[in-house]
Amino acid sequence: MTKTYSMPKDFYWGGASAANQYEGGYNEGGKGLNAIDVLTNGSATEPRKVTWKTNDGKTGVTPMTWGKEFKLPDGAKPALLDNYYYPSHEGTDFYHHYKEDIKYMAEMGFNMFRLSLNWSRILPNGDDQEPNEEGLAFYDKVFDECAKYGIEPLVTLSHYETPLSLINRFGGWKDRKMIDIFVHYADIVMNHYKGKVKYWLTFNEINAMDMAPYMGGGLIDGSKQNRAQGAHNQFVASSKVVKLAHEIDKNNQVGQMLAYSAYYPYTSDPADQLLVMKAKQEMLFYSDVQTGGHYPEYRLKEYERDGIKLDDRPEDYELIKEYPADFLSFSCYTSNVLTTHEADAKANGNMSAGGVKNPYLGYNAWGWATDPDVLRIALNDLWDRYHKPLFIVENGLGWGDELTEDHKVHDDYRINYLRAQIKSMEEAVNEDGIPLMGYTMWSAIDLVSNGTGEMKKRYGFVYVDRDDMGNGSLKRYPKDSFNWYKKVIASQVKI
Ligand code: BG6
Repeated sequence: MTKTYSMPKDFYWGGASAANQYEGGYNEGGKGLNAIDVLTNGSATEPRKVTWKTNDGKTGVTPMTWGKEFKLPDGAKPALLDNYYYPSHEGTDFYHHYKEDIKYMAEMGFNMFRLSLNWSRILPNGDDQEPNEEGLAFYDKVFDECAKYGIEPLVTLSHYETPLSLINRFGGWKDRKMIDIFVHYADIVMNHYKGKVKYWLTFNEINAMDMAPYMGGGLIDGSKQNRAQGAHNQFVASSKVVKLAHEIDKNNQVGQMLAYSAYYPYTSDPADQLLVMKAKQEMLFYSDVQTGGHYPEYRLKEYERDGIKLDDRPEDYELIKEYPADFLSFSCYTSNVLTTHEADAKANGNMSAGGVKNPYLGYNAWGWATDPDVLRIALNDLWDRYHKPLFIVENGLGWGDELTEDHKVHDDYRINYLRAQIKSMEEAVNEDGIPLMGYTMWSAIDLVSNGTGEMKKRYGFVYVDRDDMGNGSLKRYPKDSFNWYKKVIASQVKI
């Protein structure tokens, strides 16, 4: 017998995005540059690169690949160079299309839209005393447009968008000064958007600090010491922002955002179970601190072994304990299979944990597994560990969609993927009883891929006419999945 589930009445359905991949307008309205504005395009085989200059005029590029070490040469500072293509500069131009895009979201029945504020649009240098009014006004227009349709915004304060000036002056999040700089930024936007925004996320995929330290922490030297300090500074900043948010408006809720992947052992060899345990610890360290409120012993021991010394204060730990995140949100696209044994077929994943191919699953062209049960596994895992409300703020399928001559996209592969994901999520809610606040699929409208900087790795319900080198009319065309998702939201049941 087919079971029919319904989601809670106040469940949030929607889509997610990030300013650096979507917004564009990189030098309009007084905006300053951010970390991603100096990151070139790449592909499945060619990494994106940070372009840089030294004070004595030398220029160069350094590849930035998730899961690989990253360090700019001594004296190099990220900077724009001629003759490179930077996909964040226009994204898919939400800056000029926000009315049209939000209308599409409303047509699908969204009651939530996740977006990030481009920190350097509001504070061009990241720590200016006074905000750029034009930057604030842009998001006012966006939030007002959302309100017109009853769409609640879910706002990420930093989705890899550390202002470039802070990177060049302080080396990014390795400097403790970043804590108060971030709190100052949060103070401005939480006061300004009071009444318009009540759901906030501090750092997108905070565990990116370890996997992509330039993205996650604006680190130009991603050494283990700097990553540990960068993470510590973000934890303290997060707790200060939770405290501040509650003081500004008691309706504010501030979530953590974690990149989650399920890990499976390839064999029953205990060595493979240990490998999985360690991979999970690396990931869950971030939620153990930010949501759980304390530094786990396994990480402290690791710091001791590796000679990592934190620039910390006793009151940091009190803050972390007293002001953990109000809820735990996460991205989850896929699962990874790990082994200590030889295995031929390699795989990828959004955390580049890589590993080997799972013979039971299908893969997209970028090597990411399509795992039908991953959300139920993720939700149970995180609920059992923290007992805090959960929120799926990213899940989706990157695919090389084709626009037909009559401007259609027949993305049945995406519909199949999402059908399985939503079923898995509904099982966690209805069979396992897990409190889930909502689901914002990545992404409402096509945008630039974070990992490769490509346009052709598409995720949206709405196709945008733009190619990997920035050519195209930017016109929007709803895909088949657009109508499918609309029905899912309207029916609130498994289909
Ligand atoms: C998440 C990020 O890791 O995965 C997004 O928060 C990103 O910014 C998404 O776009 C999908 O990854 P990619 O590399 O396919 O764009």
